[in-house]
Amino acid sequence: MVFHVMLEYSVVAKRLRKVYRKEEGGFPFRRKSSETIVALDDVDLSVKKGELFGLLGPNGAGKTTLVKILSTIIIPDAGTALVNGHDVLKEPGKVRASIGVVSSGERSLYWRLTARENLEYFARLYKVPDGVARRRISELLSLMGLEDRADELVEKYSGGMRQKLAIARAILHDPEVLLLDEPTLGLDPSFSRSIRVFIREELNRKQGKTILLTTHYMDEADQMCDRVAFINKGRIVAVDSPEKLKAMIGMNEVLKIVVSNLDEKVLTMVRGLPFIEDCGVANAEQDGRTMVRLYMKNVDANIQEVVGVFSKAGCRIFSLSIEKPTLEDVFVKLTGEVLDG
Ligand SMILES: Nc1ncnc2c1ncn2[C@@H]1O[C@H](COP(=O)(O)OP(=O)(O)OP(=O)(O)O)[C@@H](O)[C@H]1O
Ligand SMILES: [Mg+2]
Repeated sequence: MVFHVMLEYSVVAKRLRKVYRKEEGGFPFRRKSSETIVALDDVDLSVKKGELFGLLGPNGAGKTTLVKILSTIIIPDAGTALVNGHDVLKEPGKVRASIGVVSSGERSLYWRLTARENLEYFARLYKVPDGVARRRISELLSLMGLEDRADELVEKYSGGMRQKLAIARAILHDPEVLLLDEPTLGLDPSFSRSIRVFIREELNRKQGKTILLTTHYMDEADQMCDRVAFINKGRIVAVDSPEKLKAMIGMNEVLKIVVSNLDEKVLTMVRGLPFIEDCGVANAEQDGRTMVRLYMKNVDANIQEVVGVFSKAGCRIFSLSIEKPTLEDVFVKLTGEVLDG
């Protein structure tokens, strides 16, 4: 059984649970309170060998916590996980040798060293033999389009260049499995695109790496991933290919409408319209505008009536658009929550 799991799956998590204790009080009297946050609530997950797997969920869903457990940075309160066939608790060294990690928001590079020096330093840390390291470093620098800037300090790099270098650092020792926490967070659209293409085409398709990435960009997961898992409040709510997940919405279209002065009464009226199948509401923005996503058949024929209900109730309409269902809509359907506000 274990052998079978090792062959077919690169990551297997079973009933992983992580509970944090909240902190209370200000500096210097901060202390652990008795209140807890369940960051992971019995999470089961398996990523097939060679798969590009996306973990999708809103802020605070538990994505980083899961990646940290799989990369042996923190230990779970309960449950087990195998990475590349090794148990994260019993064989953390073997797990670390077989993974490359890009962690979100944390500085994983030395800013006072050049890009090349960073890679040389980490190659030594990973015990890559000198000759192999030299060849691999120049290969990676050219793969990332950084060769012209390789001898500049990382502090002079742009965010996108640093992210590329962080990815180069993560794959330096040619690991089987990559764990990428928000690899495109905060990058401009063109850098994001080039990093997505690199991850999908080069790392996954060409080099055959198994990749688990986290994101809260639904379109990123949709474009790149073989399968995605939705995570919300520490629980996995669905796992499937993007196509199959979107098929859950059926034949409906989505009318996206941004209004002000929205209240429960209006919403109840809108929900009660015979052609409305479902409705998702984002948290109100600062200026009182709220985005509502209405799932219905035949938007063209019914848009007038929807607008009428909002207008009569005194809501001001700021924008209207008709969209095809996205992964976001599946998430709304499953959780009743909107991701991107
Ligand atoms: N060290 C910690 N101490 C206390 N609570 C924590 C700690 N780390 C995370 N949490 C809490 O655990 C929950 C899950 O956090 P996590 O960072 O895993 O979410 P995430 O899905 O990565 O979110 P984001 O999209 O914002 O990166 C959150 O409620 C968070 O506040
Ligand atoms: Mg995170």
